[in-house]
Amino acid sequence: MQVDLRESWWIRDVEIPSRLVLAPMAGVSVQAFRRQGRRYGAGLVCSEMVSCAGLEHRNERTLGYLRVARDEHPLAIQIFGSEPAVMADAARMVVAAGADIVDINFGCPVRKVTKTGAGATLLEDPDRACAIVDAVATAAGVPVSVKMRRGLENGSRVCLEIGPRLVDAGAATLTLHPRSARQMYTGEADHSLTAELVELVDVPVIASGDVTSRARAQSVLATTGAAAVMVGRAAQGNPWALSEIVNGDAGEPSRDDVAAELIVFVRETVRELGERRASGFLKKFYGWYLGRGRFPRPFKQELVQLESTEEVVTRLLAASPGAAELVERLEAELPDPADEILLDSMPISIYGGG
Ligand SMILES: Cc1cc2nc3c(=O)[nH]c(=O)nc-3n(C[C@H](O)[C@H](O)[C@H](O)COP(=O)(O)O)c2cc1C
Repeated sequence: MQVDLRESWWIRDVEIPSRLVLAPMAGVSVQAFRRQGRRYGAGLVCSEMVSCAGLEHRNERTLGYLRVARDEHPLAIQIFGSEPAVMADAARMVVAAGADIVDINFGCPVRKVTKTGAGATLLEDPDRACAIVDAVATAAGVPVSVKMRRGLENGSRVCLEIGPRLVDAGAATLTLHPRSARQMYTGEADHSLTAELVELVDVPVIASGDVTSRARAQSVLATTGAAAVMVGRAAQGNPWALSEIVNGDAGEPSRDDVAAELIVFVRETVRELGERRASGFLKKFYGWYLGRGRFPRPFKQELVQLESTEEVVTRLLAASPGAAELVERLEAELPDPADEILLDSMPISIYGGG
């Protein structure tokens, strides 16, 4: 059975225009990444995980994650924490910021998060996990989704026990990344578990893990019955993978295409994070964009050494003069940044990006 990835589907009353969801990735899923993902065919994009404690304390950097642009909807904002009441307050804030869906993180395997009782550890505490979903669903007024791993230990099938309970508690969709927390990103995602979860719940399931091509996406959808696939690492510095998966658009981008997308990404990220934070944040993206044999290796190393992002843009334009016209076209299509929804409680300095 061939599944059309361009078909829309629904999470309660939110229409998702394609069967590809862009994964939440800490240190990656900035606004520029999400907006680019939407342009290349993702039906739903997601923020990186946002700390509910950080929101509770009005931490400036945490609040910065809640900047939402007009052209990224439908958008899920992901929150993590371990206290139902604090998570409920966080949910109200992210909805006020413009989230169409509140996503709850029950998958993060990183110790900094799990030691606080949040992320994947909640898979071992189903009562608390359900209390969180219940509190968030009651507070949010928009659909609530949960993203989880298979369990903490290798071979765990805990996701199949807790999944239906999370739905009963109010989850409108479940995303399963079927690796254990212990595995981190090693081994393979076992999507036979995704198929089992689909059988157990009457909400749409999103399959996350190792979807890197159209063929793989088709096979995961067909063999699991999932409503959508989620794509993470394959989209890093490579939005073309998204249009390949959704539309079957084949072919490597030209150098000018790559340079133009990277330049727009750099400028948008500087606008969001400010020059100082953006220049460090962006370095990993240079390798992601320019690798894959697209540009010679020394060129990437040269960009990483440059002091300012302006120099990076100048160097990219010198290497790929045809990119200038493409950049102009891309930037003309972006909405005015003044259209962003700004929360009253946000400190002024984050509006300027600094
Ligand atoms: C750098 C990085 C950061 C991630 N951050 C998050 C996160 O904040 N929240 C989350 O639910 N998953 C996070 N993930 C997991 C991804 O969303 C996804 O489930 C996982 O990478 C498997 O999909 P993939 O094989 O398509 O990359 C992260 C993954 C990576 C590689």
